[in-house]
Amino acid sequence: MDLQLTHKKVLITGSTSGIGFEIAKRFLEEGASVTINGRSGGSLQKSMRNLKESFPDGSMEGIVADFRDSRAHESIIKTLGEVDILINNVGIYASKSFEGTSDQDWEEMFQVNVMAAVRLSRHYLPQMKKAGWGRILFVSSECAQLVPEDLIAYSTTKAALLALSRGLAQTTKGTRVTVNALIPGSTLTEGAKIFLQQQAEKENKSPGEISEEFFQQARPSSLLQRFAKPREVADMALFLSSPLSAATNGAAIKVDGGSIPGIL
Ligand SMILES: NC(=O)c1ccc[n+]([C@@H]2O[C@H](COP(=O)([O-])OP(=O)(O)OC[C@H]3O[C@@H](n4cnc5c(N)ncnc54)[C@H](OP(=O)(O)O)[C@@H]3O)[C@@H](O)[C@H]2O)c1
Repeated sequence: MDLQLTHKKVLITGSTSGIGFEIAKRFLEEGASVTINGRSGGSLQKSMRNLKESFPDGSMEGIVADFRDSRAHESIIKTLGEVDILINNVGIYASKSFEGTSDQDWEEMFQVNVMAAVRLSRHYLPQMKKAGWGRILFVSSECAQLVPEDLIAYSTTKAALLALSRGLAQTTKGTRVTVNALIPGSTLTEGAKIFLQQQAEKENKSPGEISEEFFQQARPSSLLQRFAKPREVADMALFLSSPLSAATNGAAIKVDGGSIPGIL
């Protein structure tokens, strides 16, 4: 299937590793012009080298911006200029009790998970409308609906993204711009591997045992009963970014392995 993404200019936040990095690779496979982002020059250069090896002729750029800083989006906008596709992917999480989650934890998660997407969308959505075409995608999470007790702050930010996405989509009536949310389930990224390793150390078990127990106990509703591969999530992000998905707007699309119960 030709996704018609050749030469489209794409910005993916938080994309030196994990789902964002996989999305970047998929866009490069489709001939898009990709900008990746991370917090530090070191990890960005490493990921850029990795991409260059796989896509020697690929059009790519990297921008350091730490979204804990409320002005991080400014350097991106200044460096990059216009984009056709904005993937609001960056997201941080920490497994903590509600009582153990400080104001600072809440504020940092909102800053990175929500406000980075708000600020970038506030800039790029009008630009896309003026250009006559564009795609904005918010990477939410199954946690927005499952709300695990140890991830209440994170889940709250991911629920906020669903409202933000739907609200912005409503402003696109009659344009060729779409705004959608992607709802991944548990995905085996580097971040998830670290989370599994930390749990394994805490409980004196192997990461494999923790993974199995995780689906038995924490995600019994998962129909997939395994972690999704980052590429399985990236493929859906690519379709929602494509001109082929023009009739999907204001939607929240699940790639959750069936973990969110219900028919919709
Ligand atoms: N993995 C899952 O199971 C899962 C499930 C549902 C939803 N999601 C969502 O999917 C998205 C991607 O998740 P992931 O698991 O792929 O994440 P991840 O592996 O933890 O992502 C790491 C990436 O985020 C960047 N990053 C972290 N903090 C940043 C900051 N303050 N400013 C800029 N970049 C920052 C890192 O950059 P550097 O390290 O280079 O600085 C790196 O590129 C997130 O929104 C997450 O909530 C993930």
